[in-house]
Amino acid sequence: MKPKNDTFLRALLKQPVPYTPIWIMRQAGRYLPEYNQTRARAGDFLSLCKNPDLATEVTLQPIARFGLDAAILFSDILTIPDAMGLGLYFAEGEGPKFERPLREEWAIRDLTAPDPDSHLRYVLDAVSQIRRALNNEIPLIGFSGSPFTLACYMVEGGGSDDFRTLKTMLYQRPELLHHILQVNAKAVTDYLNAQIQAGAQAVQIFDTWGGMLSSHAYEKFSLAYLRQVVSGLIRDHDGERVPCIVFTKNGGIWLEKIAAIGCDAVGLDWTCDIGEARKRVGGKISLQGNMDPMVLFSDPAAIRKEVQRILVSYGSGSGHVFNLGHGVSQFTPPENVAALVDAVHELSKAFH
Ligand code: CP3
Repeated sequence: MKPKNDTFLRALLKQPVPYTPIWIMRQAGRYLPEYNQTRARAGDFLSLCKNPDLATEVTLQPIARFGLDAAILFSDILTIPDAMGLGLYFAEGEGPKFERPLREEWAIRDLTAPDPDSHLRYVLDAVSQIRRALNNEIPLIGFSGSPFTLACYMVEGGGSDDFRTLKTMLYQRPELLHHILQVNAKAVTDYLNAQIQAGAQAVQIFDTWGGMLSSHAYEKFSLAYLRQVVSGLIRDHDGERVPCIVFTKNGGIWLEKIAAIGCDAVGLDWTCDIGEARKRVGGKISLQGNMDPMVLFSDPAAIRKEVQRILVSYGSGSGHVFNLGHGVSQFTPPENVAALVDAVHELSKAFH
């Protein structure tokens, strides 16, 4: 069944909308005091992700505060490698880490895609619970990391400035990396399809690190597996089309190639001009983005100005979902997020 506010889904499918819909990457997070309270009750971030009641609670927090046009499942992209047995943990202030990074050939050969119905049950339970709580007011977005971005964390064992271990494998033992990517592509496809079956009404694939590759390596190690995932996705569920968004951070130079893998929309970071991007894809797919998250450290007047600039650049007509070019910073004043959402809703009416 269609949600009451379906502007987000309609924009992704390039159907007419009365205004440009908006949601924000990392909209549920540490910039919200109520999030920090729920997280404290959970004990830590991972326990929060693994508790469907609390994950539902934090998913709804930004929805209660702002007039957002979509909710996004509260979880993390690293649930897949955790379910593969790599032992995910979050060291305070240090970001994600794995107890058993994937380095040895035997461990790589043993790697298998987890069955989402058993090993990622808590995510699917959160999806169905969030859908019930949303009461069909706005749509719910499911998500996953891309096969390549997951491999970055799995091989490196955590975040990195240069992903040296991963890139060494890419150049020295490409067949090992391809094996990981093949398993990840199956894992991501199964996981997203399970989220869709549990009630996710659109999905986004986060390729956060694809943009650090050479063009040649991007096509072989990231894009090829994104294509494989997209072509394996359930596209219709409950009589509705389930749109798919692909976001490669720093992927602007490959926009035409990403647009051609069969997704409904491409997410843009703030480095590219959205109007030029629209011309480059020939209006064939939708675009999502692309305000610099740092604009939210200015003031409502400056935020409105930047919103207007982006709306003018995209121009009239459907096919644009407003978002930031990457996740909202944990230091963002929440009242500036309110100013952003209101500005997008108000100013975008003139473009439809
Ligand atoms: O957008 C949403 O509101 C949904 C929730 C969401 C989170 N992570 C919650 C989270 C989503 C979609 C993600 C995706 C994710 N996770 C990505 C891809 C998007 C991106 O940002 O590029 C990546 C690379 C990760 C891995 C990850 N998880 C990192 C690197 C970190 C540490 C980041 C930091 O700022 O410390 C996390 C932790 C994380 N994931 C937090 C949240 C709200 C902060 C954890 C906390 O509460 O301490």
